[in-house]
Amino acid sequence: MDEKKKVMLSGIKPSGDLTLGSYLGAIKNWAERAEQFDCYYFMADLHALTTRQNPADLRRRTLEQLAQYVACGLDPEKNTLFIQSHVPAHAELGWVLSCYTMFGELSRMTQFKDKSQKNADNINGGLFAYPSLMAADILLYQPDYVPVGDDQKQHVELTRDVAQRFNNLYGETFRVPEPYIPKVGARVMDLLNPESKMSKSDDVGNGRVCLMDSPEDIMRKFKRAVTDSDTDEHCVRFDPQNKPGVANLMQIYAACTGRSFEEIEAEFTGQGYGAFKLAVGESVVEMLRPIREEAQRLMKDKAYLEDLCRTGADRAGRIAYKTLRKVYKKVGLVAAVR
Ligand code: TYM
Repeated sequence: MDEKKKVMLSGIKPSGDLTLGSYLGAIKNWAERAEQFDCYYFMADLHALTTRQNPADLRRRTLEQLAQYVACGLDPEKNTLFIQSHVPAHAELGWVLSCYTMFGELSRMTQFKDKSQKNADNINGGLFAYPSLMAADILLYQPDYVPVGDDQKQHVELTRDVAQRFNNLYGETFRVPEPYIPKVGARVMDLLNPESKMSKSDDVGNGRVCLMDSPEDIMRKFKRAVTDSDTDEHCVRFDPQNKPGVANLMQIYAACTGRSFEEIEAEFTGQGYGAFKLAVGESVVEMLRPIREEAQRLMKDKAYLEDLCRTGADRAGRIAYKTLRKVYKKVGLVAAVR
């Protein structure tokens, strides 16, 4: 008999259109793991509410994200795909865990500090308690691994602390998960501002490449990507400290083509940045073309998407409520009589 598969879980908030960063940092790695793990992936729509959303856009993006998950290779038969708000256990456990997450811990979160600066007129309670909800998202499914990009590592570490704290108080309740960070693509930077990460929520535009961008738009963005004034024949070399723009393009090219940095350096020796940027752009266009076409096709099939939502939420809900019932019992809530 097969040994029980390890569990993997992750989510993306539909607060903006998915980018090359979301793909290389997250979804691409998820799609490669379906055989090996029991996988849960969701649209973190409740998390998106922590910053103001246009309701119609949020609805569109949430469904589009589901179509994109499938188009990126997440087979709904092999992976449980669902919308976070369709499994109310997330909000329920989120509340409980917020009572086991300390004010000081939440205050130290880099994302909270960043987002507070960017949304100074809307530093709401949800933004602050965000990591408790994220801990609930994770711990409900008892995963072994949480595959995320570099920027989410701190939240997964806090989740571990909360899980351990709870287990120490009430006995073994949650599995303590590990973050699972990809070797390349863990931090795709903005093409025009390689000091900051490519973000789907920030209103930037030309520095970010979206999964649904046309090939012409993608090429235009790569042609304009920031490099530096180096004219050396080895100007294409990996030096993130001194050459952040070039290092970012190399990371992207490495992730798209599977080549190593040494191979890329050799390939572009004696060539200027013009040829390099074209090659990176073309590799991205070719990687994203089938994804865009398939997502567009799926978006037209509303019945199929609705069916996916229902099946995914049912499957996820069964596991989630098992954990939630256990937690309610441990903390002393009276079981509901049904
Ligand atoms: P979010 O929606 O900001 O990003 C989703 C995933 O994409 C990764 N990512 C990137 N990776 C590389 N380069 C980039 N430029 C880049 N931008 C984004 C992120 O690291 C992340 O893995 N809080 C989470 C969503 C969430 C979640 C969860 C994740 C909610 N609950 C439970 C895991 C488990 C977030 O805002 O990710």
